Order: sequence, then C-alpha cells, then structure tokens
Amino acid sequence: MQNLYNLGLEVTLNAGKLLKDGFGTVFEIQNKEGKNNLVTEYDFKAEEQIIGSIKKEFPNHSFLAEESGVAHHNSESEYRWVIDPLDGTVNFAHNIPIFCVSIAMEYRGEIQFGFIFNPITNELFTAQKGKGAFFNDKKINVSNTTDFEKSFLVTGFPYNINENPDNCLQHFTDIISYGMPIRRLGSAAIDLAYVACGRFDAFWEVSLNPWDVAAGLIIVQEAGGKVTNYQGDQFTLKEKSLIASNDLIHNELLKVVNRK
Ligand code: IPD
Ligand code: CA
Ligand code: CA
Repeated sequence: MQNLYNLGLEVTLNAGKLLKDGFGTVFEIQNKEGKNNLVTEYDFKAEEQIIGSIKKEFPNHSFLAEESGVAHHNSESEYRWVIDPLDGTVNFAHNIPIFCVSIAMEYRGEIQFGFIFNPITNELFTAQKGKGAFFNDKKINVSNTTDFEKSFLVTGFPYNINENPDNCLQHFTDIISYGMPIRRLGSAAIDLAYVACGRFDAFWEVSLNPWDVAAGLIIVQEAGGKVTNYQGDQFTLKEKSLIASNDLIHNELLKVVNRK
C-alpha cells in the first residue's frame, strides 16, 4: 500500500504545480450542467495528468474522476481512485486562491488514503487509514469546541440550488440565526480539511459528489472527527448530504438541519 500512497502523493503535488502555473493566466472556461457551474481547461489538464500518471504504473486500476466520469472505470479492479482534479473551480476561474487537488484511493470499497493540496497556500492535508491525519507533515486533530453556539462553521451551496429539494437555504437561515460565524469558501475539500485541522468546528452541504469528499472523509475521520449524512448515519460515497464535525457538536447540528 505504501507504494500506492507515495504515487498518490506525487500525482497530487504534480497536479497542484500544474494548477499553480495556470492560476491567474488567461484560460478557457466553459459552463457545465446547473447554473454558473464552470469548468476550465485546467480541470481537464490536471485530471488527464493525474489519471495518465497512475495508469502508467497501474494500467488496470479503476477511476472515478469528475471530468471523465466512469470512462476509466474497471469493474475487475479492487483499486479505485476518486479524483477531483480542481475543487473550487469557480474560485480558480475568478483568481481567488481557494482551490485544491483532492485525491483518494479505495481498496475493496474502503478508502485507504487521501490527499488535499492547495498549491497557492502550500497546504497539504493527508491521511492513511489507521495512521492519523496530517497537515504539512504535522499530526492534526479536530477542534475541542463543545458549545454549539460558540462554534465556527462552514457550508457550501450546490450548483442546482434553485431546484434542490433539500432546501439548503432553510438550513443556512436556521443555523445563521444562532448568530454564529459561518463561512462559504467554495471548495468542499478545503472545507473538510479545515474541519480536520480544527480551523472549523463543522461543515455541512446538501448535494455533494464522491470526488468532492472522498479525500476529506478519511482526513476528517483520521483527525478524530465524525462524518454522517443528514440522518446521522455514517457517511458513504453514495450519499449526497454530508455533515462533518469535531463530533462534539454533531448532534446539535444534525438537529438544526432536520428541523421541520
Ligand atoms: C464544488 C465545490 C463547492 C461546493 C460544490 C462543489 P467544484 O466543486 O466543492 O464548494 O459547494 O457543491 O460541486 O465544481 O469546484 O469541483
Ligand atoms: Ca468538486
Ligand atoms: Ca472539480
């Protein structure tokens, strides 16, 4: 497993370098499904580079990546890489330095390790199953805030917010009415990484994809945090809604998003 971890780290850092070189330059931007859901030429370039480098070493591995979907899926393989080559595309397209590469690898359906890397701030978050989570090689833990009303939270809004039946605006209004500070950074992977290292006490969002959260999931869990769906069940990559927290304020947040 260590050779796969090392390869994952290498491709994450290389993709980060590619994004850093492209950041702030003139590049092609297109629209995807949903409203203001952008994709740049760097999303595609980074994804191609990541998959190409892994396939060179492991041609039979399976992939689930945002831009190519299941095009590189191999049902025979026990190894699956879950890749968001650029999480925070809207930020990247607007020259805001809050974006990252997010890569995780599953073996027999269980995430073994994950990486989240923001090449602009040089912040690298990593975790390996059973071995803890790290921020630039320093071991990290979730925060120890116990008082929900004193917590610092982050959320995100999906591109289909207008027709989203989960009514995420209502959750937002309910939570902000407690008077707590809330941020919206625009990168679900960074949101999760920041919960893992204790910058935020919790993150919630209604409509996520596996590539947005696979790496963040193991990083938060290895940092001692809790990740569930809105029903409070352990989060799996098949879920859409997610709550990640320091565990201590989890139930309180669950109650608010489930308020009728
Ligand atoms: C998006 C970001 C954003 C979240 C959206 C995601 P993308 O991913 O993570 O923070 O609110 O739900 O789709 O499009 O930048 O890779
Ligand atoms: Ca994403
Ligand atoms: Ca993306």
